[in-house]
Amino acid sequence: MKIRTAVLTVSDQGSRGLREDKSGPAIVETLGELAEIVWTGVMPDERAQIAGVLRELADTDAADLILTTGGTGLSPRDVTPEATLDIAERQVPGMAEAMRAESLRVTPRGMLSRGVAVTRGKTLIVNLPGSPKAVRECLDVLLPALPHGVDILRGRAGECAAQM
Ligand code: MTE
Repeated sequence: MKIRTAVLTVSDQGSRGLREDKSGPAIVETLGELAEIVWTGVMPDERAQIAGVLRELADTDAADLILTTGGTGLSPRDVTPEATLDIAERQVPGMAEAMRAESLRVTPRGMLSRGVAVTRGKTLIVNLPGSPKAVRECLDVLLPALPHGVDILRGRAGECAAQM
């Protein structure tokens, strides 16, 4: 079963049409056949706005998975992790830890992404960094565990040990 996936690009410039969104398409391309893309959007680095769209997508059960890209760094406008935590019910620290660990093998700047992974209802939400390169590198880390994580969250898989 394909993972119903929503892709949110967070970028002030992108939302004003001043920069082409290459990271959202990089997510779609990297997921390939694994995902059915049910929603895509570009919005500015506004905490309440980001939290609002994440809440709406999760509460209407529009997607199994929401991937955000951008706004995870240290600039004053980077608020994607805060917005995500505003609507989070549970954190999935292992996913963020795994992405950062692998990113650090590629670049010391990997430690500068503050992205989080959380659940709200039956939707998994993961923050990816903003560049298309970082998106691909981080998604490659998640992909081996992603289908099983989504299946467990949605109650489609129970016995982990039997499936190893
Ligand atoms: N992670 C990976 N795997 N590859 C990268 O190139 N870039 C880093 C980091 N994480 C990077 C990465 C950089 S340069 C920054 S500033 C932070 O992600 C935050 O990016 P963001 O603010 O665009 O989300």
